[in-house]
Amino acid sequence: MMGDVASSSARITGWGAALPEKVVTNADLEATLDTSDEWIVERTGIRERRIGGSTTGLAIEAGRRALDQAGVPGADVDLVILCTCTPDETMPASSAAVQQGLGIAGGAMDLNAACSGFVYGLVAADGFLRSGLGRVLLIGAETMSRIVDWEDRGTAILFGDGAGAVVLEGGGGPGRVLGWDLGSDGSLRHILHADAGGTIQMDGPEVFRRAVRIMVESAERALQGAGCSVDDIALFVPHQANARIIASACSKLGISAERTANNLALVGNTSAASIPLALVGAADAGRLAAGDLVLVVGFGAGMSWASAVVEWAT
Ligand code: COA
Repeated sequence: MMGDVASSSARITGWGAALPEKVVTNADLEATLDTSDEWIVERTGIRERRIGGSTTGLAIEAGRRALDQAGVPGADVDLVILCTCTPDETMPASSAAVQQGLGIAGGAMDLNAACSGFVYGLVAADGFLRSGLGRVLLIGAETMSRIVDWEDRGTAILFGDGAGAVVLEGGGGPGRVLGWDLGSDGSLRHILHADAGGTIQMDGPEVFRRAVRIMVESAERALQGAGCSVDDIALFVPHQANARIIASACSKLGISAERTANNLALVGNTSAASIPLALVGAADAGRLAAGDLVLVVGFGAGMSWASAVVEWAT
């Protein structure tokens, strides 16, 4: 499904991130798995990941930073959307704890589209703002370490924990979601899944084969919806799953590494937290200015995919 929402306005006015303190390096994994730092770096680009905490704890920390930066008290937020596939409880939605923790006056809901979750949430938030809400706090937060089989070297090396958040405000001014693309192919559920209460099962090479094409096609549809070309994009923020997937998508899209956010080496694949963590890192590093166009592209279990072109507001 492709969208052209040029008339909408979802300005990112604050952003924040949170990572657990505990660092797990590839050398640490060598101690328990038949693997090596060299293999992991060469095949994935990952050097270390952060492990620990709870999804709601990380979400509250990242959300508080985003609200502080925007100068928005929780009481002025109409809705918190927590994008996660690792909620702390099945019921209620983990966003309920975030709502309480941040003193948010409005509603709270979880959104699960696996690693595509944050971009799905961005498009959903944009829709809520267009239909009259004033402010949405959008958070991607995961504790993937809780659903990883630490004896499976095919997956244990990839995932990490963390959270990233943005405050989205409606009304006028610069900053908009210019175009987007959302999709899912449920016939591919089996190549990446975790049963309720179970651990992640993945056909890595199959996911790899499909990921690049999915990302490129989805990105192109979002660009088309936004009415712009790849040359107009100041920063590409792809889902951080594998450095080779990112490099291949960049080359097929015609985007240089200099215009691409990449924090994979330090955090691994943090699923729905991956894109906001990379976005927040780039913004904090001064890589974004008002009016810049940002292309965010997620893909993951489902298989699901989601892309959006966002005009940076501040
Ligand atoms: N350390 C050392 N060797 C490993 C290993 C590890 N951590 N994991 C797998 N291997 C071995 C395999 O057993 C296999 O050995 P064999 O040739 O003797 O059978 C060999 O390395 C190649 O395995 P393969 O799975 O084909 O490797 P790969 O190059 O595809 O890399 C992934 C594996 C998981 C890194 C890669 O497939 C990948 O990143 N896929 C995408 C996953 C992804 O992005 N998932 C999240 C989506 S949101």
